[in-house]
Amino acid sequence: MIPAVVAKNLCHTYGEGTRALDGVDITVRGGEFVSLLASNGSGKTTLLKLMSGLLKLQDGSLEINGEDVRRLKQEKLYRTVGVTFQNPDDQLFGSTVGEDVAFGPRNMGLAEDEVQKRVLRSLSIVGAEGLAGRAIHHLSYGQKKRVALAGAMAMEPSMLLLDEPTAGLDPAGEASIMRLLGEINRKRGVTVVLATHSIDMLPLFADKIYVLKSGRVIKHGDPEAVFTSHELLEDAGLRLPYVSSLIHKMK
Ligand SMILES: Nc1ncnc2c1ncn2[C@@H]1O[C@H](COP(=O)(O)OP(=O)(O)O)[C@@H](O)[C@H]1O
Ligand SMILES: [Mg+2]
Repeated sequence: MIPAVVAKNLCHTYGEGTRALDGVDITVRGGEFVSLLASNGSGKTTLLKLMSGLLKLQDGSLEINGEDVRRLKQEKLYRTVGVTFQNPDDQLFGSTVGEDVAFGPRNMGLAEDEVQKRVLRSLSIVGAEGLAGRAIHHLSYGQKKRVALAGAMAMEPSMLLLDEPTAGLDPAGEASIMRLLGEINRKRGVTVVLATHSIDMLPLFADKIYVLKSGRVIKHGDPEAVFTSHELLEDAGLRLPYVSSLIHKMK
C-alpha cells in the first residue's frame, strides 16, 4: 500500500532566517496513528503546514498518498486531508456551529441534503449533536475544538492532521478528545498525525512517535521505544509521561 506521507530531508526557513525544519524524514502508513512530539518551537506546526499545503515546500521531498505535493492541486489535498489548527478561533468562522461545519462540504459543491447529512454525521462523531444551532461565539474552548474537528471530518478525509488538539483542555477534556481520535482512527480507518507536547495519553493511542528537537527528528519508534529513552525526552525538553515517571521512581 502507498504510504499516506513520505517526507524526505524536509527543510524550511522562515523569511527572517529561522530554520524551522532541518532535514526531517517521516513516513506515515495509511491507517496509522502517528504523533509528532516536541516542545514548543521545534517545528511541529511548520511540518503540519507543509503536509497540508498551507506552506510551500522549499527543500526536500514530500509525497501525500503517493503524490508529490509540488504537483498536487490544493483542492485535491483539501478533500483528502483534514486539518485542525492549534487555536480553534483561527478556523471557525460560521455564525452557527451547523453553518461552520457545512462550509467545507458546501464548498465542494455537494447537494444541500448531502451537506446537511454530513453536518449531522460529523457533529455526532465528535459528540456535539446538540450544538448545531449554537452561535460559535457562545461555545466553550473545548466545544470549539470539537466543532473544528467536526468541520474536518465533514470532508470525510482519509487523513487528519491535528495541531495540538488537546492543548488548553483540562485532563478530562484531554482524555475525551484522545479517546475520540483513537476511535476515528481505529473504527473509521482515518490516518492520524497529531502534533503535541503533551504526552500522558500518547502511549495509549500512538502507533509511532517522532520526537523533534530544533527542527530535527531525534528519535522515532513505538511508544515503548520512545518513553523508555528518559534522557532523550529530557534532552527534547519533554517530561516523562506520568505513569512512566512513577515506574521509574519505584525502580
Ligand atoms: N510565520 C513564522 N515566521 C517566522 N518564524 C516562524 C514562523 N512560524 C514559526 N516560526 C519559527 O519557526 C520555529 C518552529 O516553529 P513551529 O513550527 O511553530 O514549532 P512548534 O509548532 O513545534 O511550536 C520556531 O523558532 C518559530 O519561532
Ligand atoms: Mg505549534
